[in-house]
Amino acid sequence: MSAALAGLDAHARRLAGASLPDLIDDDPRRARDFSLRVGPLYANFARQRYDRLALDALFALADARDLAGAMRRLLDGDIVNPTEGRAALHTALRGDASDAPAARDARRQALDAQWRMRGLADALAASEVTDIVSIGIGGSDLGPRLVVDALATRDARFRLHFISNVDGNAAERVLAGLDPARTAAIVISKTFGTQETLLNGGIVRAWLGDDSRLYAVSSHLERVAAFGIPPERTLPMWDWVGGRYSLWSAVGFPIALALGMPRFEALLAGAAAMDRHARDAAPRENLAVWHALTAVWNRNGLHAAAQAVLPYDERLRLLPAYLQQLVMESLGKSVALDGSPLAAQTVPVWWGGAGTDTQHSFFQALHQGTQVVPADFIGVLQADHAHARNHAALLANLLAQTEALANGQDAEDPHRRYPGDRPSTLLLLDRLDAHALGMLVALYEHSVYLQSVLWGINAFDQFGVELGKQVASRLLPALHGEGEAGDVVTRELLREFSTRG
Ligand code: F6P
Repeated sequence: MSAALAGLDAHARRLAGASLPDLIDDDPRRARDFSLRVGPLYANFARQRYDRLALDALFALADARDLAGAMRRLLDGDIVNPTEGRAALHTALRGDASDAPAARDARRQALDAQWRMRGLADALAASEVTDIVSIGIGGSDLGPRLVVDALATRDARFRLHFISNVDGNAAERVLAGLDPARTAAIVISKTFGTQETLLNGGIVRAWLGDDSRLYAVSSHLERVAAFGIPPERTLPMWDWVGGRYSLWSAVGFPIALALGMPRFEALLAGAAAMDRHARDAAPRENLAVWHALTAVWNRNGLHAAAQAVLPYDERLRLLPAYLQQLVMESLGKSVALDGSPLAAQTVPVWWGGAGTDTQHSFFQALHQGTQVVPADFIGVLQADHAHARNHAALLANLLAQTEALANGQDAEDPHRRYPGDRPSTLLLLDRLDAHALGMLVALYEHSVYLQSVLWGINAFDQFGVELGKQVASRLLPALHGEGEAGDVVTRELLREFSTRG
């Protein structure tokens, strides 16, 4: 472990005897001092298990790792993904955060693509089409699915549907309720080589019976053409945008169709506002820096092996799934940039779900389980519905959970004792609109990148997902009874499949 990360251990040991309620009693001003506001987004870190001295060490680590310089390198389009020799210019999709030539060039391409996307959206709006099927997986699915689920209104011009899983049930379920004559489909795949997406695209193409309402988003135009979708219905992607950072690109075409172009632009503007904040704010006023340092503290100081994300808003119920890819595909690494093994632990398991439902499922383990799981609670202050009593109950539950997890409650009976001392961050949006959601997602993107800089790893490759794909393609012929493949266990399982399947 690097000396700086090892220093966190020393602070954690110093604080081992102090409970979270003690830390807050000793320093009540932290309730205000450990909070930040960035436009419509408020964050409070007072219920994290650090004190001011530990925070000093964390901010010293931010300086030592030059997080401000790292942010500039990201925005300028430097090669921040060295294993693939690529920039990661998702910020250029949503604003002008940098004047560097690579960023300006990317920005120009992004604006061209938006202009084309607007044209295609207008043409679809003028057609008979009522339903849009979006076909993609991972980063080509989770972002659009999240934003559409969070923000689409009942009076939207189109109904959006998503197919991702290669399980044929996914396509069947979506297509069952639709009329092919009034449906358009978008095949979204950066590589246009993803098995799931190509198989599902084939199902939908056959179901449509007419290729004229089939669209594509990809960086591999020749593969799209070979699939049968012409350039005029294909929107571009580029190797300088990672899949899990791509909802701001034409991958967001389903968002633009569901929300309308102005609200898609508001989403981009919100993300751009967070980019400027992450670039300009001093470390102690910088929300992305606080969030990243807190994550590293919980992982390397407190050795938490899991992190929960708990949106208290039904509209954000897909946020945990979205963040699982963003965080775990980016930070699930065990070697440093130079390939040497890491001594420090990196990403914990990210998981979660929407409150209050989750209070009645896994919160028992959060309160009394042997694992301490730090949590991000996310709330929305303004209700966009008429049920004021429900909204008050939702917010009361949100606050109650953060307080109960932190303070616990003693009891004679050990079964009824709450140990407390369980850290959380509270993130509050004034209102859930496109601008605020853009800010929230961009905050997590920047936190993830800064965590990768603190750990010295590459946040933008994902070689770990390749091996399983390769093994599956070797096994596919054997599943059809052609030849033998797999190790001794797999061959036994294949025999079982062939007798029962
Ligand atoms: O399997 C992982 C992955 O490569 C993700 O990183 C990506 O978002 C997803 O597959 C989909 O890839 P594509 O857009 O190329 O179909």
